[in-house]
Amino acid sequence: MEISGVLITEEKLQNRIKELSKQIEEDYKGEEILALSVLKGATFFTIDLTKHIKNPVSFEFIELSSYGSGTESTGKIILNKDITGKIENKNILIIEDIIDTGITMQYLMEHIKEKNPNSIQVASLLSKPSRRKVEVPIKYCGFEIPNKFVVGYGMDYDEKYRNLPYIGYIE
Ligand code: IMP
Ligand code: MG
Repeated sequence: MEISGVLITEEKLQNRIKELSKQIEEDYKGEEILALSVLKGATFFTIDLTKHIKNPVSFEFIELSSYGSGTESTGKIILNKDITGKIENKNILIIEDIIDTGITMQYLMEHIKEKNPNSIQVASLLSKPSRRKVEVPIKYCGFEIPNKFVVGYGMDYDEKYRNLPYIGYIE
């Protein structure tokens, strides 16, 4: 598979991420944030988003999968790696790469709610609204994109292309 084109350039990505950081900083007003990053796709976004936030930020990582090696979700979520720390009474900011059908995020939010945090909000770099099967409240959304399979900036096709500094698409 070859990259068919660039959907979002590195410059556009970085500018938008800085805007989201400022918005988060204003909303949380100096409170501590627990950034819950969804492995592996959200790692690049997690780092760039949080490094501009002046609030105290701590980190947890969780790994879920729904995809096999293709470009279609199987709809079945597997929890590969759970968080290791206590998140009771914390303000959780879930950081995700992309929300497609919404099934992964719905599962994740239910899973996190059971651990009794103080609050849960979602930051997703990308969203494909035309593909949604379940509603997900995305407080901080980087870009709404058309129904294309995207790679780069953390996102993969069969574990490749995660290290691209821009978002490309595959046809
Ligand atoms: P959902 O459960 O259908 O919302 O899918 C969410 C997960 O599927 C994301 O966290 C991604 O890991 C993966 N995914 C969805 N769309 C894409 C895409 O276009 N490129 C790469 N991964 C994707
Ligand atoms: Mg993901």
